[in-house]
Amino acid sequence: MIDLFAEISEECRLAIPAAHHRGIAVIGAGGIVEGAHLPAYARAGLPIMGITDLDAARAQRVAEAFGIPRVYGSVEHLLADPAVEVVDIAVPAAAQPAIFRAAIAAGKHVLAQKPFALDPETAVELSGRAAEAGLVAAVNQQMRYDEGIAAAHRMVEKGWIGAITGFSITVNLATPWELWPWAQPMERLEVMVHSIHYHDVVRWFLGEPESVYAVGGRTPGQIPVGETRTATTYRYASGAIAVVHANHVNRGEDNYAEFRIDGADGAIRGTIGLLYDYPDGRTDTLEVRSRTLPTDGWVPYPVTQRWIPDAFIGTMGSVLDAIATGSTPLTSVADNVRTIDLIDAIYRSMNDNSVVGLSG
Ligand SMILES: NC(=O)c1ccc[n+]([C@@H]2O[C@H](COP(=O)([O-])OP(=O)(O)OC[C@H]3O[C@@H](n4cnc5c(N)ncnc54)[C@H](O)[C@@H]3O)[C@@H](O)[C@H]2O)c1
Repeated sequence: MIDLFAEISEECRLAIPAAHHRGIAVIGAGGIVEGAHLPAYARAGLPIMGITDLDAARAQRVAEAFGIPRVYGSVEHLLADPAVEVVDIAVPAAAQPAIFRAAIAAGKHVLAQKPFALDPETAVELSGRAAEAGLVAAVNQQMRYDEGIAAAHRMVEKGWIGAITGFSITVNLATPWELWPWAQPMERLEVMVHSIHYHDVVRWFLGEPESVYAVGGRTPGQIPVGETRTATTYRYASGAIAVVHANHVNRGEDNYAEFRIDGADGAIRGTIGLLYDYPDGRTDTLEVRSRTLPTDGWVPYPVTQRWIPDAFIGTMGSVLDAIATGSTPLTSVADNVRTIDLIDAIYRSMNDNSVVGLSG
């Protein structure tokens, strides 16, 4: 069993070979760049050549903190620099499509934060532009590289729990929405900026559902305009079901974040450590019980990497690997178009109180 876990642990190890390093510049010097992107790149030994932000003083401060040699006065200046080959975009969702278009037009490869587009039409358009230009473009849907989730995916691929019959993710959090002024007026909020990670992960494990049904709600006294609690159910042609339930106004002061994957031959259960004390968090937990190995009860897998910052090595690493080897990033924009489709279907279900089918 320990040998089998060692194999999975090696497959989940996040590193970027020096031969894959490219000229990378970051657009946005906000909370997630300072707290996750740059610490992850530092941990991976990946140099960053420049950064820009509408808030020049902030860009300067972050550049100094992380030893980034160049602060550009604007996005235009950054994109005009021929030494910049890869653009790491991490600005509020509404601002991303224009920057994405400009980056592709300037011949840069792109890693965009989630959601890279707020509607399916824009997602298809942006993905098409990158493909036409022959550039690598991916979305920072880095939960797929969070070790608890990535190792669970490997266990499923290896057949340890058989075909998936059920997948659930449940989080109950006290999210400090006041930290993100741009999030306050968003009418599509919780699923669009937070649970999109869970919905992307469900898609990664189970593919496209036949249909979804979702409800969303607000809590008296909450700060943002949009929904802060949602529950979504998925129906699959195979008979499998999935549930994502997220509440961000937890007044019980007992935050938790759990997932469970049931299969025909076993089950996997875990916790998403980051969310117990965001943004510091703790390591995930992950346990498996399998009839095919057999495990003789629940066996804990030793998680040694975190969602923040480690998983951010995975998404940037996949873009650099794609440039170097021609591989396709796990979270390519072409794949993410279907996550945006799913998110749109969830909102249509929520708004119309109806089951929404997803085509192919
Ligand atoms: N786990 C994750 O993947 C994760 C977590 C948090 C946030 N995010 C995403 O990252 C993005 C940024 O979030 P954040 O928490 O850092 O927000 P933030 O508010 O802390 O920072 C956003 C920064 O972007 C800058 N900015 C805005 N428009 C810009 C423009 N046009 N050009 C240059 N700079 C611009 C702002 O000045 C600000 O410094 C959002 O899209 C958010 O959804 C992802």
